[in-house]
Amino acid sequence: MKDTYILGIESSCDETSCSIVKNGREEIATVISSQIDIHKNYGGVVPEIASREHVKNITIVIEECLKRANMKIDLVDAIAITYGPGLIGSLLIGLEAAKTLSFIYNKPLVPVHHIAGHIYANSLEKEMKFPLLALVVSGGHTELVLMKDHYKFEKLGGTLDDAIGEAYDKVARVIGLEYPGGPKIDELAKEGSPTYQLPIPLNDDSYNFSFSGLKSAVINLNHKLTQRGEKINKADLATSFQTVAISSIINKTKKAIINYNIKNLIVAGGVAANNGLRNEINNLGKELNIDITIPKMKYCTDNATMIAAAGYYAYKMGRVADLSLNSKSSDKLH
Ligand code: KG4
Ligand code: ZN
Repeated sequence: MKDTYILGIESSCDETSCSIVKNGREEIATVISSQIDIHKNYGGVVPEIASREHVKNITIVIEECLKRANMKIDLVDAIAITYGPGLIGSLLIGLEAAKTLSFIYNKPLVPVHHIAGHIYANSLEKEMKFPLLALVVSGGHTELVLMKDHYKFEKLGGTLDDAIGEAYDKVARVIGLEYPGGPKIDELAKEGSPTYQLPIPLNDDSYNFSFSGLKSAVINLNHKLTQRGEKINKADLATSFQTVAISSIINKTKKAIINYNIKNLIVAGGVAANNGLRNEINNLGKELNIDITIPKMKYCTDNATMIAAAGYYAYKMGRVADLSLNSKSSDKLH
């Protein structure tokens, strides 16, 4: 059978990325230009700056990717693009580049939902087997999604307020860690003990999550201790927060696995890079005797490899768009 090569482009937040993936499973080349060093001066992503950086980087990143793949664009079968959700100005830069390539080289344009991209990062590890449960944990999403087949997404539950990554970043900022705080808390948590008492979020029968109460509890505790002039043990606070946040995710995931008789669990999104979560998910897999897939670290945070992988399955299903395709800052996973 003829091989299918998808060129993916991702620019939804602060990474400009291009990748070429063969048959949805094999990475040929990927280039990621990260803007973290610029945004960390402001404690978070500044949308206007992000857009300008994408404009500067997009053509360089695409050219470099083709060079590393040692491929001419004529050999690519389709162009996959993150159309949303994300920062609208950032999304538009990638979309215009993708449309231009699609038009000039006469290649089908395949729209990819950013979270579908995170989910399909798992197909770079092994073939996705259905039905499966996807635990989506990123900067903007925390969801449990049941998939009975490719692109059949059934949301079982999600966060009622903050996403898990958002809570990580806010807690990190309060305790004086640099943006993005998630990986910094993860590192600190390795050194501490869960000595601070924090409330367990939304300990109910639903598949929903809530992290804003936990986040506020950490902020209030930090404030109270500072006012009293007491020294805060940052490592212990990081461990206390991480322990409660992860146990909430694990409890709900476990419930869904049992109730839906799940045999395959995949993890998706930037927070899938969290060492504490990776350990607990692997333990859960052993406890329940189910198959676990977690993307490699480099495929957890934003990258175009996952977009090209997701784009392959979308392309095979005929999910192509014309040049009227527009970016969307928010959109339901479909
Ligand atoms: O998926 P992603 O790259 O962007 C979105 O689509 O949102 O996720 C970014 C989020 C940020 O909140 C970042 O702090 C978090 O993922 N993150 C982590 C870790 N690495 C990235 N959170 C906890 N532990 C980590 N190791
Ligand atoms: Zn993402």
